Amino acid sequence: MKLSVFGCGYLGAVHAAAMASLGHEVVGIDPDATKIAKLSAGQTPFFEPGLPEILASSLGSGRLTFTTDPAAAAGADVHFIGVGTPQRRDGAGADMTYVNQAVADLLPHLRPGALVVGKSTVPVGTAARLAATVAPTGARLAWNPEFLREGFAIKDTIEPDRLVYGVAPDTKDEDTAILDAVYAAAIGAGTPRIVTDYATAELVKVAANSFLATKISFINAMAEIAEVTGADVTQLADAIGHDARIGRRFLNAGVGFGGGCLPKDIRAFTARAEELGRGESVAFLKQVDEINLRRRQHVVDLVVSSFGGQVFGHRVAVLGLAFKPDSDDIRDSPALDVAVRLKGLGAEVISHDPEAMDNARRMHPQLAYADTVDAALDGAEAVVVVTEWKQYRQLDPRETAAKVARPVIFDGRNVLDPAAWRAEGWTYTGMGR
Ligand code: UDX
Repeated sequence: MKLSVFGCGYLGAVHAAAMASLGHEVVGIDPDATKIAKLSAGQTPFFEPGLPEILASSLGSGRLTFTTDPAAAAGADVHFIGVGTPQRRDGAGADMTYVNQAVADLLPHLRPGALVVGKSTVPVGTAARLAATVAPTGARLAWNPEFLREGFAIKDTIEPDRLVYGVAPDTKDEDTAILDAVYAAAIGAGTPRIVTDYATAELVKVAANSFLATKISFINAMAEIAEVTGADVTQLADAIGHDARIGRRFLNAGVGFGGGCLPKDIRAFTARAEELGRGESVAFLKQVDEINLRRRQHVVDLVVSSFGGQVFGHRVAVLGLAFKPDSDDIRDSPALDVAVRLKGLGAEVISHDPEAMDNARRMHPQLAYADTVDAALDGAEAVVVVTEWKQYRQLDPRETAAKVARPVIFDGRNVLDPAAWRAEGWTYTGMGR
């Protein structure tokens, strides 16, 4: 099929490359000329395992092109909207500028029978509004939320857990058939598919992310209780996780969640529910957000108290800046936040991250960045692990002790073995364990 993808950020670039790798003819469209030049040359604007490979093969096959010109969408049967919906600068709601602009750019190039497919995470009600906007062209609109995780974006796109189609009731069968043809590979592999209305499809995405955020804040709340009772939240998570109704995944306590989705999605959902007069239904999401943000300060407080209440002038190695491993994304990153807060208190912060240092340096030039883990550890009076990159999980307690000035470590992701570190003379502090 011929597809266009509006937006070549995380979602759009991955979607475009993945769809081309499945055999579709795809044009990726984005107003950012630098991004388009990079993608056209086979360079990924962000770190995502596997993306360079499928980008190269899809460009090589001739089925994938990138352009800044919305007119290139004209010949496509299906037009995906995969632009960002960040948090508004002036509030908690979603900034719809990019979605509205993408639809406006696409409108003159729509032909009767074409299907516009929204993938961006939007406030419920958006699809109905946009369907009315595209209707005069004879094109139709569907909402097809995306559930990809950074670090697993290619797999999540090509082999999703489920497909959700929000379609207009009177064209349900035609629109479902078009989306089934786009996702023929996943459908053929037996992927569950839910065909529903616009509002449900829009809500599925924010409900899923709200649930995941709640799960993480739940276990972090348990960590707070563990901290005052001497209990171990990791064992608690293992024990409750054996109950299949609860499940062990997304029950890792630590510095909490960040990234370009969970934090802004729960805030936008709260704002939208309030607009709809149902703020109380999701009022708990404010607590989920608060618990989450408290965990960052908790790590900072622990570091400060290890110096007797004053961190000024002390050298602290912060290992990790990305919001999670296998990503260079620093949006709303708890790790970066911890580094910035410690620096703000006068600590001599030396940060390291295998992939996110360039992004962090652009935003926070006041931090010091070490090229290697060893350079970050050298002479450190405290070590803080805030992103669970493999190379930090594999640090050897004895070798690490020889590099630092004071063997004090804070395990912000509960990924180190406390006994092994204590056996080498370290003062080890985990999160709620
Ligand atoms: C998330 C959703 O998982 C995905 O389905 C959606 O499409 C986009 O948002 P992503 O932002 O890539 O994906 O990250 P995710 O793997 O969900 O992790 C989010 C944050 O939660 C990270 O900061 C991670 O460190 C943190 N986290 C995750 C925990 O603190 N504890 C856990 O147990 C799991």
